[in-house]
Amino acid sequence: MYSKQSTFKNYNLYQMEKEDFTLVKDFLDRQREKLDRIEFFYPYKDSELAEVLDKGYFLGLFDGQKLIATFAIDYDEEYAKQIADIINSSCDIGLDRAYESSGLMVDEDYRGQGIAGFLMDKICVEASRKNINICGVVQICNAASMNTFFSRGFELRGLYSMGGVYDFGYLLRRAENTNLQNMENFSKLILQSPSKYDIIVDVEREVSNSDIATQRRMLAEGYYGIHCDKKRIFYIRDKERKL
Ligand SMILES: CC(C)(COP(=O)(O)OP(=O)(O)OC[C@H]1O[C@@H](n2cnc3c(N)ncnc32)[C@H](O)[C@@H]1OP(=O)(O)O)[C@@H](O)C(=O)NCCC(=O)NCCS
Repeated sequence: MYSKQSTFKNYNLYQMEKEDFTLVKDFLDRQREKLDRIEFFYPYKDSELAEVLDKGYFLGLFDGQKLIATFAIDYDEEYAKQIADIINSSCDIGLDRAYESSGLMVDEDYRGQGIAGFLMDKICVEASRKNINICGVVQICNAASMNTFFSRGFELRGLYSMGGVYDFGYLLRRAENTNLQNMENFSKLILQSPSKYDIIVDVEREVSNSDIATQRRMLAEGYYGIHCDKKRIFYIRDKERKL
């Protein structure tokens, strides 16, 4: 483990390294087994985890000695090109590379406190520092994870169906667009209400998250996802901005 990066509440953030393999693997395996929908966290192969710990940017948040959350950027170049290809085949935006932001997991006892949002902010700072595109690959029905990305201005720009239960959304944060403008637009779209996401105005289309065919068509037409709930994805299309 490298030196402490920062703190959140009473928790300490560290950058993890290859010596932390067993600690991280045990944490991810244990938490994944507890998920109601195990497919919501697609596991790393051992070799992939070792690689991200060694060469990527891998964050771990600790409550005392206990690892309670993880999130990373995978700097694998080949994979970054594959992700760009999948996004380009969905919406043809001429992307060169998008590095996966992977390994997002918060211990079930610690969810709903803003921890994922905190880690997401750190990952975004790192991506901005390196001037790279990053992309979350998320099960399209995993509203908690999708909204963690959406809450930081990521856009749903690609879809890939692996078969079976696996329909992945590709949530992109582009280097050249810090998404501040997008976040401003987004906040304009949301009417603050007791449940702040109850009413979304000006969203052009909402689509059932199981209707992959319609979502594909919309992405190809220049729509992109900006928010979701358990059943729907909300799409807008920016008329002024170049696709
Ligand atoms: C997804 C996960 C990491 C979120 O962690 P968390 O610490 O509870 O999330 P936060 O409290 O930081 O919330 C982040 C954002 O997501 C939203 N969110 C969190 N849980 C949500 C839920 N169940 N439904 C809808 N939105 C949710 C929050 O409202 C917040 O947005 P806001 O900042 O605009 O209010 C956590 O639920 C988890 O570990 N899930 C299991 C593993 C998993 O699915 N990983 C993702 C793999 S791609």
